Amino acid sequence: MKVLVIGAGGREHALVWALRKSPRITEIVCAPGNGGIASIARSVPANLKDLNDLLRVVSAETPDLTVVGPELPLSLGLVDELRRRGLAVFGPTQAAAMLETSKAFAKRFMQRHNIPTAHYAVCAGQKEALDSLHLFHFPVVVKADGLASGKGVLICENKAEAEHAIEGLFNGKLLGSAETTVILEDFLKGEELSFLVLSDGKHATPLVPAQDHKRLGEGDVGPNTGGMGVYSTDAMLDATMRDWILHHIAQPTIDGMAAEDTPFTGVLYIGLMMTARGPMVLEYNARFGDPETQAILVRLESDLLEALESCVEGRLSETELRWKPGASACVVAASGGYPGSYTNGYRIAGLSEAAQVPGIVVFHAGTALVDRDIVTNGGRVLAVTATADTLQDALHRAYDAIAKIHFEGMYYRHDIGHRALKK
Ligand code: AMP
Ligand code: GLY
Repeated sequence: MKVLVIGAGGREHALVWALRKSPRITEIVCAPGNGGIASIARSVPANLKDLNDLLRVVSAETPDLTVVGPELPLSLGLVDELRRRGLAVFGPTQAAAMLETSKAFAKRFMQRHNIPTAHYAVCAGQKEALDSLHLFHFPVVVKADGLASGKGVLICENKAEAEHAIEGLFNGKLLGSAETTVILEDFLKGEELSFLVLSDGKHATPLVPAQDHKRLGEGDVGPNTGGMGVYSTDAMLDATMRDWILHHIAQPTIDGMAAEDTPFTGVLYIGLMMTARGPMVLEYNARFGDPETQAILVRLESDLLEALESCVEGRLSETELRWKPGASACVVAASGGYPGSYTNGYRIAGLSEAAQVPGIVVFHAGTALVDRDIVTNGGRVLAVTATADTLQDALHRAYDAIAKIHFEGMYYRHDIGHRALKK
């Protein structure tokens, strides 16, 4: 089989790395890929923002299966167009991806289907949003409706901050483009959990749980990012709680989408807050998480291709996923200045030394191969990922490996997994 993976991040490096283990795959192509993916799969240029360019790549490559990594091509309707052409593709349609691409849609959907989430108001104008503030206590969460790469969520401690956030979203000063709809939401307290399920449109099969670290700074301070590090262990979610989430949140989401004639096929990422009143949904993503995927796929023992195909072919309930016991940990090395502005093109040293550490895979995120050198080419540059029998050992290995890597301005958090270690 020939498989085409669409995307350029650490998530796609992990997908390609895991798919390569499948005995049925003869060729993997990645569009556009990155400096690390280029060493394990043929990479072809592609513009992820341009539907026609992506369709051109698929027509030229004629893959047996296309796997779509990031949300942008989903939002452009890539899956719909490939299905219209009779091609096998892993990922949700444009309508099903609305669980991620419109937070207003997602909140109303959860309300229709009794899925636990924070109390909210969808506001279609600045005046309505300012007038609705009195319905909330502080801190209040102010969210842009559409895709914002993790930058569209503002936690506001008081009225002045909330007004500033609302005005900034509507006038375009905060995200660069003016929002037409903003969501106000109760602030939820607790630990976050990334609960991902595969789905064939009917059935939901959970992946192992993961915890991301969204804030830039140690101790969970500073601005939100795409994710600075992740860990995954079995102990972070017991079987009773896992089944509760599956039966009260994940499966009802899949059932609700099917009942509304927009069945969800692909991987559904459910971002949860584990509150004192039980798990509540913070957000849905219509794709694999990044860097969750890196920490999850290094624990997968069964065949990823078989799992993805069974989603596409509507026979997921027959497929069983097998996982390595123990733990994994992933630490992200970012460019200095991220998530604000940063400079690309710095040479990365120490990659082969890091890869020598036992249990380590260095996934590339924002890197490029230039004249045989791997150089920085993005905000999140590397996802140094380790497996081990215990979380302590996995973290130790990841930090041991990342310490051997260097590039100008490199930044990483030293406290990934701190909550679990305290317990
Ligand atoms: P979202 O894109 O909606 O997941 O928001 C990004 C991040 O903002 C989440 O992972 C949380 O860390 C935080 N966040 C979002 N909504 C809430 C909320 N209602 N209460 C507390 N934190 C939130
Ligand atoms: N790591 C969070 C996300 O993929 O959205």
